[in-house]
Amino acid sequence: MKSISTFMKMKQERDPIAMMTAYDAPSAKAAAKAGVDMILVGDSVGMAVHGYDSTIPVTLEDMLLHSKAVRRGAPETFVVTDLPFLTYQGDFSETLQAVKQLLQEANVQAVKLEGAKRTLSTIQRLSEAGVPVIGHLGLTPQSVGVLGGYKVQGRTEEAAKQLIEESKQVEKSGAVALVLECVPRQVAAHISSLLDIPVIGIGAGSETDGQVLVFHDVIGFSDGFLPKFVKQYAHVQTEVEHALSMYVSEVKQQVFPGPEHTFSMSEETLNKLYG
Ligand code: KIV
Ligand code: NA
Repeated sequence: MKSISTFMKMKQERDPIAMMTAYDAPSAKAAAKAGVDMILVGDSVGMAVHGYDSTIPVTLEDMLLHSKAVRRGAPETFVVTDLPFLTYQGDFSETLQAVKQLLQEANVQAVKLEGAKRTLSTIQRLSEAGVPVIGHLGLTPQSVGVLGGYKVQGRTEEAAKQLIEESKQVEKSGAVALVLECVPRQVAAHISSLLDIPVIGIGAGSETDGQVLVFHDVIGFSDGFLPKFVKQYAHVQTEVEHALSMYVSEVKQQVFPGPEHTFSMSEETLNKLYG
């Protein structure tokens, strides 16, 4: 299995890290087979799978369930799980309990936490306890209520300076990697060269140490809003809708099931049964 030192080495050798979310066993298996370096069990599962319109309602139980499924689907892949909203801003023992369950029950390798400021001390305490922590700055969806929507971060001089400063603080607090979401490519490139730890971008241009995208976005399995930074490599949604409507139509027309999908018994038994 790849490790934090693998990812550090990849950064040093300018070998881009390909990261992707997965939420269940089959998607994790497909990601591993495709050669994804690191799987993120993102709280984006709330939108991609559970039908919420933000990551706010996602719970630790949700993350545990999905992490366990991902682990079973990709037993050899480095997995990081998002700590969900408000599980790391209060009582530290509560945070520790959440991390303990994720690392010991779901067997993931790392956790991801959003923000700097108050999050820094949590990153530090977890790191000191031996927990690999990944930071997440720029657009931090768990703060959507405070940010006032999903928009590009760090675009003004002041905001860029703050983002650079906070990235350094996240590294200094012991984080093993940093996700930068929705920031100008120039700022992301600057931060990537400034930090020793790998910087994984999403909507952060091509000059970060790696990229991350949401599974459903990559395969086009959604019919909702698509951010500018997403590239769809397939349009599975169309395929799925087509398959499902064919099924419905064949059931209605009694075309399905055909003889090849049907079990039968011998004439002899049939005669015994019904005379
Ligand atoms: O939850 C998620 O999918 C994420 C990525 C967008 C980085 O946090
Ligand atoms: Na997330």
